[in-house]
Amino acid sequence: MTENITALVSGANRGLGRRLAAELVARGAKVYAGARKPETVDLPGVIPVQLDITDPESVRRAAEIADDVTVLVNNAGVSTQAGLLSGPIEDIRLEMDTHYFGTLNLTRAFVPVIENNGGGSILNILSVLSWYHAPTSGAYSAAKAAAWAMTDALRTELAPRGIHVSALHVGYMDTDMVSYIPADQKMDPSVVASQAITGLLNGDPEILADELSRTVKAALSTTNT
Ligand SMILES: NC(=O)c1ccc[n+]([C@@H]2O[C@H](COP(=O)([O-])OP(=O)(O)OC[C@H]3O[C@@H](n4cnc5c(N)ncnc54)[C@H](OP(=O)(O)O)[C@@H]3O)[C@@H](O)[C@H]2O)c1
Repeated sequence: MTENITALVSGANRGLGRRLAAELVARGAKVYAGARKPETVDLPGVIPVQLDITDPESVRRAAEIADDVTVLVNNAGVSTQAGLLSGPIEDIRLEMDTHYFGTLNLTRAFVPVIENNGGGSILNILSVLSWYHAPTSGAYSAAKAAAWAMTDALRTELAPRGIHVSALHVGYMDTDMVSYIPADQKMDPSVVASQAITGLLNGDPEILADELSRTVKAALSTTNT
């Protein structure tokens, strides 16, 4: 099945995005690797595409180039570690501009592309912090929570249009984003990428990649996190 897929992964030059692109290539998909600086894409077998998800013109161009896409992977993200009261408002805006508006920009540009190609799917990379809201990462959690709400609303809106929407939730992964976390507390992003693509292809609405995400999700009905 994956041989018939043409995917675009945002933020595919490093971190989880690079692993997701590699996983799709390994399964036989054609893959566009979206990156702000396409010259930093070093993964064999992908097509680099300039893509800044916060720049509408860049998003428009990417959708024009990658016009055979059937799978969109919204992976690009930032972590400023800004608190909602103490952090710079610019950082708080950047989190929302990236995780919420950036993801929405790219989704709005690619829904007509996917529809035009006969339907497909969208995978949004979220986090356990969509559900667990600590003050130390208030800006990030708020943006991921907004992206979670967006994901759920789009899943319902897009199902009758032949587009399946899935979300990945995970705790820490060993990428640049959390280089300050000890290695033994982080998942291997290649393992997470494999789980994510398997879940997406299975049509899972939600992929919970680790025990932490499963525990926090299960506690949502009983606690106020
Ligand atoms: N690492 C974790 O523990 C963890 C846990 C849960 C969820 N996540 C989520 O997983 C996803 C990938 O994160 P990561 O851990 O792989 O982080 P990372 O190593 O810091 O990589 C982030 C990627 O996003 C790209 N990016 C950021 N802003 C962008 C924009 N405006 N337009 C296009 N690309 C942009 C970066 O591009 P540049 O190279 O140009 O900066 C980079 O490719 C994010 O959505 C993150 O929130 C991460």
